[in-house]
Amino acid sequence: MHYLDHAATTDLRPEAAEVWLHVAGETGNASSTHGAGQHARRILEESRERLAAALGCDPIEVVLTSGGTESVNLAVQGLWRSRAEGQDAIVLPDGEHHATLDTVAALAAEGARVVPVALDAAGRIPVDGFSAALATEGAAAATALVANNEVGTVNDAAALAEAASDAGTPLHLDAVAAFGHLPLSFAALRGSAPPGAGLVALSVAGHKIGAPTGTGALVVARTARLAPLVHGGGQQRGLRSGTQDVAGAAAFAVAAELAVAEQAAEAARLGALRDRLVSGIRERVDSAELLGDPDPAGRLPGNAHLLFPGAPSESLLFLLDQAGISASAGSACQAGIAEPSHVVQALGRSEAEARSVIRFTLGRTSSEADVDAVLAAIGDAYVRVSHPGR
Ligand SMILES: Cc1ncc(COP(=O)(O)O)c(C=O)c1O
Repeated sequence: MHYLDHAATTDLRPEAAEVWLHVAGETGNASSTHGAGQHARRILEESRERLAAALGCDPIEVVLTSGGTESVNLAVQGLWRSRAEGQDAIVLPDGEHHATLDTVAALAAEGARVVPVALDAAGRIPVDGFSAALATEGAAAATALVANNEVGTVNDAAALAEAASDAGTPLHLDAVAAFGHLPLSFAALRGSAPPGAGLVALSVAGHKIGAPTGTGALVVARTARLAPLVHGGGQQRGLRSGTQDVAGAAAFAVAAELAVAEQAAEAARLGALRDRLVSGIRERVDSAELLGDPDPAGRLPGNAHLLFPGAPSESLLFLLDQAGISASAGSACQAGIAEPSHVVQALGRSEAEARSVIRFTLGRTSSEADVDAVLAAIGDAYVRVSHPGR
């Protein structure tokens, strides 16, 4: 099997699996005061320290969650629900992940005013457009992707955070697609922003970097004002009550450390594989077009997102799957019905084009053989799908 959907989820790292199973076999609630509980507590807090080091923040700022969707919900809903009186607007760039889009839509139904920011043709959030949106009267919060999970375009997160700091507005960054693939430091991005403004929250997910599914974190600045979603025992600064997943935290910490240690070398290796994949596809399918930033330095190293004119994504994915290749259209697929990608449409592309894209994403276990497999299959698959009579 050739797996080229690492942005959806990636292989569990063996080192993380080992720690996960080992810690899961131990008994003790990290909130209990007896010896077993305190042993669990030590493992938990040491894991939090290691995660904090990988994320460039203080351990107290790491709120463990079940993954990216929960982190984003806690950040966006939490900021909205703790807004000051008279502030009712949320700055929302186009092309965000559904975790964000649908959360903001739910808040809009409760009265939030959405201030959109159009993307440029490469899928980047323009800093001036973001600043202009932040200047809107009553902006309670802003959110933005560090890197777009579909087309792979990397935003200037430092400039977006600075704009939010200048505007005095709290910003959440969704780093789910970026963490482990790009250098990332919460403290550096937060800079010297005033309390409660600038970057205050950052989302990451374990299963995107080789930790178990069901692990994740929201980094929450000490000075952030954030209302919890889940109430109960008051764990994790009261921001996420509930017995903590010590084994998950330990495995997540190991995966995060390894991902960060390997990041630069992996970016170079995956970037080279990705560039060969893109140029090979374009040699075989003349009309194929790379979407997102054409400059390799401006996109996630393992992301190749291509438009195949006249070829519906599902049909192409079906033929690739038959050739043993797993890729994706990069769009949400609800009840088996493929939706045209809202991200592709946010680049100014038509609905038909948004239904004719394939996202190939590479990761730790990707090899030259995976690229070879796609190159061997793509030309014939494209002809069969785009010219069915031939
Ligand atoms: C950018 C981005 N945000 C949020 C999420 C949601 O994360 P999870 O699948 O861990 O809930 C994803 C998952 O694909 C993502 O790519």
